[in-house]
Amino acid sequence: MTTEKQVPVLTVDGPSGSGKGTVGQMLAQELGWHFLDSGALYRITALASQDQDIDITNEAQVALVAKGLEIKFIPQKDAPPSVSLAGQVVGDVLRTEQIAEMASQVAAMPKVRAALLLKQRAFAQLPGLVADGRDMGTNVFTDARLKIFLTASPEIRAQRRYKQLKEKGFDVNLARLLEEIQVRDARDQARTVAPLKPADDAHILDSSGLDAQEVVQKVLDLLKAN
Ligand code: DC
Repeated sequence: MTTEKQVPVLTVDGPSGSGKGTVGQMLAQELGWHFLDSGALYRITALASQDQDIDITNEAQVALVAKGLEIKFIPQKDAPPSVSLAGQVVGDVLRTEQIAEMASQVAAMPKVRAALLLKQRAFAQLPGLVADGRDMGTNVFTDARLKIFLTASPEIRAQRRYKQLKEKGFDVNLARLLEEIQVRDARDQARTVAPLKPADDAHILDSSGLDAQEVVQKVLDLLKAN
């Protein structure tokens, strides 16, 4: 069995729209490592609860859903991995703002976070793991070889989300997106369990003026130096 200590882990945490998803996937591809999109686990918990008609404010029931999830990430070439739930591929519904909002609510529940903890750690497999989320460096992979905390201004993050969602064909409003991002950031930062904040030993990178390739290069340089 491999342990967290033997498997190199690179954590990329940060708020929504900081570019961590894109950067994390590019890093995993570059390094030939596995990739964990931990936000997808919270989104799937929200989606599966909705599908099972569970009251999203009922922590014990949502935690049971989280515990029972059978999730697989299926790697795709030059695209985000597709996600399957109990053998069924979950499409772009996972990326909607409605599911993001519900995911943020369930992510504030300690029992849900506890239910997903071991599932996340199980992704640490050789030759290595790039783990993307909010608390990868602070809670899930505290022994990670390198911890990155990616930031960008709320305006830039809203513009990136706008472009991503438009490309997927969703009807979106930039001002509303900015507002939603700020509300979600505030909730993610203020919650008592695993709030969004850099680990003490994280390297903080501001991606505002950088493209994804430039951020990837900075992280690879840090990985070489550490
Ligand atoms: O990264 P994302 O937008 O897919 O995340 C969805 C929600 O899940 C977001 O509100 C933050 C939360 N989340 C979390 O609390 N911890 C993580 N490790 C990843 C995501």
